[in-house]
Amino acid sequence: RTAPAVIVAIDGPSGTGKSSTSKAVAAKLGLSYLDTGAQYRAITWWMVTNGIDITDPSSIAAAAGKPEIVSGTDPSAPTITVDGTDVAGPIRTQEVTSKVSAVSAVPEVRARITELQRSIASAAERGIVVEGRDIGTTVLPDADLKIFLTASPEARAARRSGELKGADVNATREALIKRDAADSSRKTSPLAKADDAVEVDTSDLTLQQVIECVVTLVEGKRATK
Ligand code: DC
Repeated sequence: RTAPAVIVAIDGPSGTGKSSTSKAVAAKLGLSYLDTGAQYRAITWWMVTNGIDITDPSSIAAAAGKPEIVSGTDPSAPTITVDGTDVAGPIRTQEVTSKVSAVSAVPEVRARITELQRSIASAAERGIVVEGRDIGTTVLPDADLKIFLTASPEARAARRSGELKGADVNATREALIKRDAADSSRKTSPLAKADDAVEVDTSDLTLQQVIECVVTLVEGKRATK
């Protein structure tokens, strides 16, 4: 018989290896993959591009339903479009990164994106790995497995500046700490570890070790389903 669909929620702050881990685990186990940060970045990109005043939550709320955001869930080639335009590149700019916390704190934005995430997860026939900040606590509270990835600020800043090629480690660390503080302190579904999540500290682990650890946990869950 085929394995039952398994829903995996992977949450944690940035620079913990969430995306690399989630994609690799999904590919290895034949599951779909959803990067929810990319969806918040996409809606932020749309707000910026359309001149919405992002210092005004009511303007953001009024526009939250307008863009059509579509995520492709193949872990070996994830895609993201807004109104049919490929935004995979533009959503990673410094400008979008610095504005995404403000946009994603608005309840109307979260309601819209959360609904989208739930419908994508329920359509994944073989199951899905969903990565984000509030997946285990809010979006998919009944997930089969919840992982919360952590790492020291030093390890996270080093990884991020590696990704950004040549970016200043100290500046990266400050920006990252600021964004995490904003994401953790917002009123609507902040970054948080679910009570029933397995916490994995990745500071002293290689990416390969983290992937193996999560794969083993998923296989264990599948065996008992
Ligand atoms: O994972 P990332 O850095 O691409 O996420 C970008 C931002 O999106 C992050 O700073 C907070 C927000 N986010 C969120 O509020 N909830 C999620 N489930 C995922 C991301």
